[in-house]
Amino acid sequence: MTERSFNGKTVLLTAGPTHEPIDPVRFIGNHSTGKMGYALAECFAEQGAKVVLVSGPTNLHTHHANIQVKHVTTANEMYKAVQKYADAADIWVFAAAVADYRPKTVADKKIKKAGDELTIELVKNVDIAAALGKQKEEWQFSVGFALETDNESANAREKLRKKNLDMIVLNSLKDPGAGFAHDTNKITIIEEDATHTFELKKKSEVAEDIVNLISKRIHG
Ligand code: CTP
Ligand code: CA
Repeated sequence: MTERSFNGKTVLLTAGPTHEPIDPVRFIGNHSTGKMGYALAECFAEQGAKVVLVSGPTNLHTHHANIQVKHVTTANEMYKAVQKYADAADIWVFAAAVADYRPKTVADKKIKKAGDELTIELVKNVDIAAALGKQKEEWQFSVGFALETDNESANAREKLRKKNLDMIVLNSLKDPGAGFAHDTNKITIIEEDATHTFELKKKSEVAEDIVNLISKRIHG
C-alpha cells in the first residue's frame, strides 16, 4: 500500500453526534465526540483522498486542504447533506452516532417547569446508512460502525447485512479504555467472510488500521 493510495478517490464521512431539538434551549443528544470520524478524515486525506466530512456538533476542527467540512445539527440535516454528496463518492463511512429518535414536535418557546412528570413523544429518525445502502452502486464501498454492549458479533453482522455495508467496525463497550470518552479504542472489523481483531490503540492508530484495510479492499 502506498502513502497516496486514495489519490483520485472521494470519501464521504459522517461523524459526531446529532442533536435533536426539544425546544429553543434543549436537545436530545449523546456522548459521541467525533474523534474517530475526524481521525478517519485526516487519515484518508493524508493518503490523497478528497474528503467530505458531514459533522454533527463537536469541538473538533480540521484544516487539512483535502477535507471539506459540512456542519449539521440534526439527523435530518445530516441525511440531506449525505444525499447531496453520496452519488459522487467512491467510499462512504458512517462514523456518526445518529440519534435514533427525535421529539415529535419542537416547542417554539422554552418549555416551562410544571408538573412532576413530563413526557416527550419521540419519532424515529431516518437510518442514513440503511437508506444509502439501497442506492449503493457496484463501484461504491461502504463502512459502518456498531457500538454494542452484548451479542456484539451477531448484532454487528446483522447491521452489516441490513444496511448493505461492505465492512463494519465493532466497538465493544466491554473493553476498558474503549468508547466515547477515551482517546483509545479496541475494534473488531467484520466483513461478510472475514473478521479482524485489533489491540487497544490510540484512535489515530485505529483510524489507520481501518483506512489500510479499506485500501486493501478497494485495490483488490
Ligand atoms: N446509522 C445511521 N443513521 C441512523 C442510525 C445509525 O447512519 N439513524 C449508522 C451509524 O452511523 C453506524 C451504523 O448505522 O454506522 C450503526 O449504528 P447503530 O446505532 O449501532 O445501529 P442502529 O441501526 O441504530 O441500531 P441500535 O442503535 O438499535 O443498535
Ligand atoms: Ca442507533
